[in-house]
Amino acid sequence: MSTNLPPLGMLAELTHRCPLQCPYCSNPLDLMKANAELSTQQWSDVFEQAADMGVLQVHLSGGEPTLRKDLDTFIEILARRGVYTNLITAGVSLTLDRMKSLADRGLDHVQISFQGASSQVTDFIGNMKGAHEKKLRAAEFVRQCDLPLTINAPIHRYNIDQTDEFIKLALDLDAERIEIANTQFYGWALLNRASLMPERAAVERQIHTIELERERLKGRLLIDFVVPDYFADFPKACMGGWANDAFVVSPDGTVMPCHAAASIPHMRFHNVRERPLAEIWQHSPAFNSYRGTDWMPEPCRSCERKHTDFGGCRCQALAVTGAAENADPVCSLSPFHGHVQRLAKSGLPNAQLTFRRLGLQTPAVARVVPVSRDNPVGD
Ligand code: SF4
Ligand code: FES
Repeated sequence: MSTNLPPLGMLAELTHRCPLQCPYCSNPLDLMKANAELSTQQWSDVFEQAADMGVLQVHLSGGEPTLRKDLDTFIEILARRGVYTNLITAGVSLTLDRMKSLADRGLDHVQISFQGASSQVTDFIGNMKGAHEKKLRAAEFVRQCDLPLTINAPIHRYNIDQTDEFIKLALDLDAERIEIANTQFYGWALLNRASLMPERAAVERQIHTIELERERLKGRLLIDFVVPDYFADFPKACMGGWANDAFVVSPDGTVMPCHAAASIPHMRFHNVRERPLAEIWQHSPAFNSYRGTDWMPEPCRSCERKHTDFGGCRCQALAVTGAAENADPVCSLSPFHGHVQRLAKSGLPNAQLTFRRLGLQTPAVARVVPVSRDNPVGD
């Protein structure tokens, strides 16, 4: 189903390069090298096209977007076109001068991820000594430049019991908002699923803490919470619905409905080097495959929630059930929901973590193996 409605948001993955090596990274296992990335001119043109289409917000991400020396140019273009810019950074490469330069060009907002609420956890999960201290300084630079700050806390087995410390950290850093986001199992997180999966009791403690803290900090700190999918009864509207109001451009210019869409084997994606962005958004088969609700099989087809969650996440449906068009198995109405419940119990304390790195020769375990009666946890 093609669309005449414009997208509102764009996630620009400027590069896959990153000084950190988080084992839950949503980038694909097959990371792109710098020489595959779009040039300054090509990205600039993409941003002009996005503004022409009516995109209101661009999230500048990676990898680590500040490794692109031309980031300042992109922010200037977007600011001139009245597009809101959000920098999603690990913070470890930021200096005060760079932050000032980005702010001067018109950057609107900064989001800094913390892998832990303490240096011990941050440095371990990011696999970089001194990362936590660098992030604390980066957050200060953001505030010195009078920019609004969000702390992003990606949560998993190794830091789920730090939820209250994360909230204290956000308050100490004078952030407006904290996003406590439980790991979504795509990309590197899928490879490390058994190691990263939290225990149900820890999830329950986390939910309790968030309820209390939201009440206590009302009007002072906005606490956004991304629930752990595998412990939920209904899915989220992933990306706000497939090709509904947002899209992703990967470092080499491939345009996708979500950051993990490349994991869907039968899907082919167009590239901004070959076609205009607007044409890709409106007409490309990949975008139109799961747009709207007409494509849905049961149980979604006759479900009253289908316009709210759009059947959940296509990439998660593929990863767990083997078919992207199935209802997200997080849904309690899905015939595969029992698999998700088993997976939620499949955490292995002390299991080995594979840290993100370029050129990893992914072993068989890295492949997505759908669950089946003989293989109930998909490993
Ligand atoms: Fe959502 Fe489909 Fe489940 Fe209904 S059946 S709640 S539309 S995933
Ligand atoms: Fe691809 Fe959810 S991550 S649809």
